[in-house]
Amino acid sequence: MTISLSRYLVEQQRAKGHIPPSLRLLLEVVARACKSISHAVNKGELGGVLGSAGIENVQGEVQKKLDIIANEVLIEANEWGGHLAAMASEEMDSIYLVPNRYPQGEYLLLFDPLDGSSNIDVNVSIGTIFSVLKKPEGSEGVSEKDFLQAGKQQVAAGYCVYGPQTTLVLTVGDGVAMFTLDREQGSFVLTHENVRIPEDTKEFAINMSNMRHWDAPVRRYIDECLQGKEGPRGKDFNMRWIASMVADVHRILTRGGIFMYPWDKREPHKPGKLRLMYEANPMSWLVEQAGGAATNAKQRILDIEPGQLHERVSVVLGSKNEVERVTRYHSEN
Ligand code: AHG
Ligand code: MN
Ligand code: MN
Repeated sequence: MTISLSRYLVEQQRAKGHIPPSLRLLLEVVARACKSISHAVNKGELGGVLGSAGIENVQGEVQKKLDIIANEVLIEANEWGGHLAAMASEEMDSIYLVPNRYPQGEYLLLFDPLDGSSNIDVNVSIGTIFSVLKKPEGSEGVSEKDFLQAGKQQVAAGYCVYGPQTTLVLTVGDGVAMFTLDREQGSFVLTHENVRIPEDTKEFAINMSNMRHWDAPVRRYIDECLQGKEGPRGKDFNMRWIASMVADVHRILTRGGIFMYPWDKREPHKPGKLRLMYEANPMSWLVEQAGGAATNAKQRILDIEPGQLHERVSVVLGSKNEVERVTRYHSEN
């Protein structure tokens, strides 16, 4: 029996009482937007979606055409449904309020519309990451402050990876489920439930070219992995770095591993490269829901109280025992 995303969500709503109807609608709409981004990604050169748009976003990064297209698709799909109060995106300076002509809902949607931008033009997996918060009760209207909630307040989180297959991965706080896009049917089909990350691993993901900029505990951890069987870990490690967080996290949810984008000395005033609200929080919740761990090398990412919308953070996530080891190396330092 095949179970579609719609059916899965209806069952989460009906039988399990995990999600209210408006959250179900929201997730259906996000999934529909991802489907449409997936089609655009697939067309590639033929759809004129490759290449740079030649403008910088609020983070000072040059936007690709697909960054902008994906952002627009997500906004257009979500603004009219009545389920949202506002949206925030890695690609927009400030929050996007639902226009007055549409009804206002109680949810806040945050997204990294296109993760792994450097991989778009080279035909390597990229994705969309999203996080859903509830607008705090009692506040009139919506402001940026309403978004500044710790990751543990999320009510849904997920990503869609556009790779050899398009896969949507979701949590509403009841474990992690994966859905594969069936292009003939046009729907996402449940392909994995109760996803679990093994506690131990022999595979790490880090951008090794930054090694000389790392802090001592990160060097120590990677050094020990590199020494393999002959070193203190007594086993050989394998390395992967896709440069799309979605694809690296997808591998970790599938077969375990540890992913790190730590603070480094290149830009010491920045806590890290990745963004707390659009990347670290949703991915950390998914990883925790699958039995893994996620820290900023010091504390649990989901406990961090954000100070600003585009805040950056150091990220260590994946197989529990390895994440704990890296975090311990930092506290011992
Ligand atoms: P984005 O494309 O949304 O800006 O995110 C890219 C992120 C993340 O997906 C990836 O893990 C990392 O940046 C890659 O960084 P390097 O190019 O420094 O390896
Ligand atoms: Mn990203
Ligand atoms: Mn992005």
